Amino acid sequence: MEEKLSSTISRTIQTKLVLPPDTNHLGTIFGGTILSYIDEIAAITAMKHSKEVVVTASIDTVNFVSSAKVGDILHLEGVVISTGRTSMEVYVKVETENLTSRTKTTTTTAILTMVAVDQHGKPTPVKGVIPESEEEKKLSFHAQARKERRLRMNELSSEYK
Ligand SMILES: CC(C)(COP(=O)(O)OP(=O)(O)OC[C@H]1O[C@@H](n2cnc3c(N)ncnc32)[C@H](O)[C@@H]1OP(=O)(O)O)[C@@H](O)C(=O)NCCC(=O)NCCS
Repeated sequence: MEEKLSSTISRTIQTKLVLPPDTNHLGTIFGGTILSYIDEIAAITAMKHSKEVVVTASIDTVNFVSSAKVGDILHLEGVVISTGRTSMEVYVKVETENLTSRTKTTTTTAILTMVAVDQHGKPTPVKGVIPESEEEKKLSFHAQARKERRLRMNELSSEYK
């Protein structure tokens, strides 16, 4: 029987401070800066699950729910929510904490597909995952539908190469 790993093994938490170079003229953080933080935590999360080097195959379902300002604290959390043969879906949630107003709001959510690769960059198998929280179970329930949608999009975009 295939060995599966608890999602708690991959769960990763990071904290960042929003600084002036990360922001636009309105003092709110650039979407690209958030995306680079999301990509980094997703890579660490997937590496913890697979114990392999990973590459980002796709970033989808990115929702910029609200913005973050200079001085805010970003709390990022990543967890593997589903796996294929060599790929892992990582869910990342970014929350913003404002120390002055003492509020915490969701800033961004995203689902990324990370692929484990060997030393030649070829996809290599990963173990399955057991989603633990109710949120993870709900997210993993639709994994197959998301994978099929990605495949359709890949086929469509390859027509325009
Ligand atoms: C991702 C990559 C390793 C896939 O290689 P490939 O030769 O297409 O391999 P396969 O067709 O065997 O696919 C391997 C897995 O990747 C998944 N995959 C491939 N392209 C994908 C995409 N665009 N989105 C999501 N998953 C993808 C497949 O579904 C498969 O998953 P599974 O094994 O769990 O079923 C390869 O395309 C690559 O190296 N891309 C560049 C990655 C990179 O450099 N990212 C950094 C930013 S540029």
